[in-house]
Amino acid sequence: MSAPSDMSAPSDIAGIRAAFQADLAAAASEPDLQAVRDRYLGRKRGAVAALMRQVAGAPPEARPALGKGANLLKNEIEQALAERRKTLRAARPAGGVDVTLPGRGAPFGRRHPLTLIREQIEAIFEAWGFEILQGPQVEDDYHNFEALNMPPDHPARDMQDTFYLDGSMPGGGAPATLLRTHTSGMQIRYMEQRRPPVRIIAPGLVYRRDTPDLTHSPMFMQVEGLLVDEGVTMADLKGTLVGFLRAFFDPGVRVQFRPSFFPYTEPSAEVFISCVFCAGGCAVCKQTGWLEILGCGMVHPAVFEAVGYDPERHTGWAFGLGIDRAALLKYRVEDIRLFYDNDLRLLEQFPH
Ligand code: DAH
Repeated sequence: MSAPSDMSAPSDIAGIRAAFQADLAAAASEPDLQAVRDRYLGRKRGAVAALMRQVAGAPPEARPALGKGANLLKNEIEQALAERRKTLRAARPAGGVDVTLPGRGAPFGRRHPLTLIREQIEAIFEAWGFEILQGPQVEDDYHNFEALNMPPDHPARDMQDTFYLDGSMPGGGAPATLLRTHTSGMQIRYMEQRRPPVRIIAPGLVYRRDTPDLTHSPMFMQVEGLLVDEGVTMADLKGTLVGFLRAFFDPGVRVQFRPSFFPYTEPSAEVFISCVFCAGGCAVCKQTGWLEILGCGMVHPAVFEAVGYDPERHTGWAFGLGIDRAALLKYRVEDIRLFYDNDLRLLEQFPH
């Protein structure tokens, strides 16, 4: 807009009108128009207000004519401003969008590292004909513990203290409802619905009452695996898991099965892989050269009985793997809590 007219000059009606018309002609936008309005109609410092003050100070006989002229000018200015505002608005593109401006790009989101790991695991088992299931995170005591051969008071429950929903504490009369402590309940849920052969994996979030540290989070992710058929042996379990770990980590990874205990498998094993960080000993593998990666075993007959399978006819194996653990090892992230912090500095390092 051109420089505003010199406001100190015209104090007469004709002078103000001429200056206003010049300013109005130069106003090219709504903010310009607002500035013109303030200059002429502003209550304190506007030209019309100054004019009114002059009228008030004029000799009594001159006042009526002067006042009438000043009022006419005021109305004229108001009308001219309103009209110009209308034309400016009409000329603006719909919605006030300037289509000639360069666009503001929407940043692409990306998959969370735990999602990437879950998808890699799913791809391997899917290629082997496994079905992928999702299950409820709010689980009942029966599917989380009891049907997995962990009756109330079973000591194995102590290792998986969890979050119980209001009014459903164990031993409180009503059946307990809880945030599932592992994905193993999906074994029961699936077998209740289907007959063998069974080949499933069930990834998902699980919860435990744990104090968070480098390797513990009260919420984390597991993937459960279950295979049931006639004549399934521990050799099938070992072959499948070794094949999986080599496909997932590295074809050269070494795998160790160590005897262990889980109430829902017999025999049970913990599986270790050769440390991906070192060749011999480091802080991550606590100088052992081995990292624990999953628990597994042959499905316990009591589990088959709970779902109405005949343990004399069917055998099977199961495993449970920590997705966070796998992600820590594969992506070399040293703190599990980073996965739940939503810090873009971490998340942006992973592919789309
Ligand atoms: N549910 C176990 C845990 O959360 C992991 C596990 C061990 C799952 C052995 C299994 C299994 O299916 O056979 O620690």
